[in-house]
Amino acid sequence: MGLFGFSLFPLCFFFLNIALFSSLCFCGDPTVTNELHVSYITVSPLGVPQKVIGINGKFPGPLLNVTTNNHLSVNVFNELDEDLLITWPGVQMRRNSWQDGVLGTNCPIPSKWNWTYQFQVKDQIGSFFYFPSTNFQRAAGGFGPLVINNREVISIPFAQPDGEISIMIGDWFIKNHTALRATLDAGKDLGIPDGVLINGKGPYQYNNTLVPSGIAFETITVEPGKTYRIRVNNVGISTSLNFRIQNHNLILVETEGFYAIQTNFTNFDIHAGQSYSFLLSTDQNASTDYYIVASARFVNESLWQKVTGVAVLHYSNSKGSVSGPLPPPPDDFYNKGASVYQARSVRLNTSASGARPNPQGSFRYGTINITDTYILKVTPPVTINGTKRATINGISFRKPDVPFRLADKHDLRGIYKLDFPSKPMNRTPVIDRSMINATYKGFIEIVLQNNDTTVQNFHLDGYSFFVVGMDYGEWSENSRGNYNKWDAISRSTTQVFPGAWTAILVSLDNVGTWNLRAENLDRWYLGQETYLRIVNPEENGETETSEPSNVLFCGPLQHLQK
Ligand SMILES: *[C@@H]1O[C@H](CO)[C@@H](O)[C@H](O)[C@H]1NC(C)=O
Ligand SMILES: *[C@@H]1O[C@H](CO)[C@@H](O)[C@H](O)[C@H]1NC(C)=O
Ligand SMILES: *[C@@H]1O[C@H](CO)[C@@H](O)[C@H](O)[C@H]1NC(C)=O
Ligand SMILES: *[C@@H]1O[C@H](CO)[C@@H](O)[C@H](O)[C@H]1NC(C)=O
Ligand SMILES: *[C@@H]1O[C@H](CO)[C@@H](O)[C@H](O)[C@H]1NC(C)=O
Ligand SMILES: *[C@@H]1O[C@H](CO)[C@@H](O)[C@H](O)[C@H]1NC(C)=O
Ligand SMILES: *[C@@H]1O[C@H](CO)[C@@H](O)[C@H](O)[C@H]1NC(C)=O
Ligand SMILES: *[C@@H]1O[C@H](CO)[C@@H](O)[C@H](O)[C@H]1NC(C)=O
Ligand SMILES: *[C@@H]1O[C@H](CO)[C@@H](O)[C@H](O)[C@H]1NC(C)=O
Ligand SMILES: *[C@@H]1O[C@H](CO)[C@@H](O)[C@H](O)[C@H]1NC(C)=O
Ligand SMILES: *[C@@H]1O[C@H](CO)[C@@H](O)[C@H](O)[C@H]1NC(C)=O
Ligand SMILES: *[C@@H]1O[C@H](CO)[C@@H](O)[C@H](O)[C@H]1NC(C)=O
Repeated sequence: MGLFGFSLFPLCFFFLNIALFSSLCFCGDPTVTNELHVSYITVSPLGVPQKVIGINGKFPGPLLNVTTNNHLSVNVFNELDEDLLITWPGVQMRRNSWQDGVLGTNCPIPSKWNWTYQFQVKDQIGSFFYFPSTNFQRAAGGFGPLVINNREVISIPFAQPDGEISIMIGDWFIKNHTALRATLDAGKDLGIPDGVLINGKGPYQYNNTLVPSGIAFETITVEPGKTYRIRVNNVGISTSLNFRIQNHNLILVETEGFYAIQTNFTNFDIHAGQSYSFLLSTDQNASTDYYIVASARFVNESLWQKVTGVAVLHYSNSKGSVSGPLPPPPDDFYNKGASVYQARSVRLNTSASGARPNPQGSFRYGTINITDTYILKVTPPVTINGTKRATINGISFRKPDVPFRLADKHDLRGIYKLDFPSKPMNRTPVIDRSMINATYKGFIEIVLQNNDTTVQNFHLDGYSFFVVGMDYGEWSENSRGNYNKWDAISRSTTQVFPGAWTAILVSLDNVGTWNLRAENLDRWYLGQETYLRIVNPEENGETETSEPSNVLFCGPLQHLQK
């Protein structure tokens, strides 16, 4: 049941009842089938040929465009030379963590195999992206946009746009993902990326010194006098990017599945793993084309100049190409307050309907008592047993070798522990497979404290959460006094600024094991993740979907694979 489904409980129950009588109960909810063939292709986004991960021969992969409550059947063909899993962050996989596509929920799809994901995008709308979750592959591509449209009966809280555009931005290295992995395995930093790609393409040659000639850049063509919804995803490894379009404003309307209070920005910070949609009015005079820029944030510009994505916004009546300096980035390298201020200004439009007809604000999270608090602290990577690892509360997660719920069903013991500490313990860091024993139907507070020197982004699978507070310094119980208890934005990925904290509230209504991780790919790879295990103590086969008939087996259950 949806987070916002409480007030509609009787109606929802009614649907469940029908389900008992007829397997055709989803007649109103069509199944959308897709095939994703994941393979290496050679492209030269920064002028140097490199092997990237394409989907159906495309880089980035194709748009998956579906509607609330659709059933998806996505047959993924692994044509790489290593294991693969595709994950769908932000899609909540209600009661069905079997389809989440991370190692704690799925055995990887071996090379040359295919596996069909089957899930419903129940009670969801919004802009997301999919990507490969294993082996650092996202650094090589394999991502594509995923859009869940409103059902026609529920109007969106703004005029129907004249068009929709998906934009994937992200930092990029010329080294491939296996070489990047080797760098991390050797305990080294990845260093400064070679560039920023926009929709898989390198920068427009806005400056002959900084950008070599012959690079294919992205051009987005628009008609004058229209309004477009642009859905921007930061699919990169870890660089926070400032997104802006020359001479144009961006009106923020949606944040990972929830409608935001519409706010006008000249530029917007999008951190790795985050998705937003904006309205763009093509209200300029088209005397030239315009720059679309995604530049690295909180960095020394003189060192990071090349880490700038530049595409072109081309009006169909444009009188010429664009030249001259880029629209300037925010000038606050020494003052990081502006970005926090911007993040706090992103709030939920409580009166708008989301996936359901009832207003997004009808779940009054601010009046619910918190049942458990988890303070999760991250620090710069540490050396454990001679290897460089990243931790949360001193624990670096040991990569799963069998999905946890599958292990439960087959009575495997000792696969994981449920002793994840609810506070930083300042103990000697360890590598362990320790999960949070979270209580079904609890209402929890998670405080993410970032003691690192770079922005860390956290994502929780299976849920969206309310981002109730964000500030510099050390969180304390007094910080609760400043929580936004009324219109905090709901989303599934949040940034935590260095030397700062972010507090989120989560209503634990979705059973399964759900990955809580750094969306910064390097930190995730080094173990900055855990899982929340949420099981209904009265489980009778109704709150959790049983394992799918095509379930893959691996690790200690490998012998069961047909
Ligand atoms: C996505 O689907 C919606 C609803 O069916 C449709 O209006 C829209 O044009 C589609 N977008 C693209 C890019 O195909
Ligand atoms: C693999 O793909 C074939 C169709 O090409 C399909 O029939 C089969 O069910 C798929 N296998 C799995 C495990 O999904
Ligand atoms: C990545 O690059 C290295 C050389 O740096 C090469 O040995 C390796 O085969 C490449 N891997 C892939 C998957 O292309
Ligand atoms: C191009 O970039 C270089 C390096 O930052 C700078 O010195 C030069 O002034 C720029 N050229 C133009 C035409 O802006
Ligand atoms: C956004 O702000 C600019 C000025 O900063 C203003 O010209 C424009 O009308 C605003 N747009 C909307 C839709 O509020
Ligand atoms: C078009 O707009 C630009 C920037 O606002 C302005 O400098 C220019 O004079 C305008 N050109 C025309 C033909 O109106
Ligand atoms: C930025 O980098 C330049 C070039 O290495 C260096 O001279 C300068 O001191 C750096 N600035 C800051 C604020 O670190
Ligand atoms: C909030 O949503 C309503 C639709 O319920 C819409 O009319 C209104 O413009 C939205 N307000 C803002 C500030 O986004
Ligand atoms: C919340 O907690 C307070 C006291 O801590 C209690 O009085 C109140 O009844 C609780 N509310 C709910 C909805 O459980
Ligand atoms: C270090 O490695 C050894 C052998 O692999 C293992 O027994 C020990 O538990 C490890 N220590 C930590 C802190 O992970
Ligand atoms: C997990 O929490 C439940 C209560 O929510 C408790 O009954 C159970 O013993 C806990 N399990 C472990 C291993 O701590
Ligand atoms: C990290 O924690 C230490 C000790 O509490 C503190 O002195 C330091 O300022 C913190 N650094 C950041 C970036 O939060």
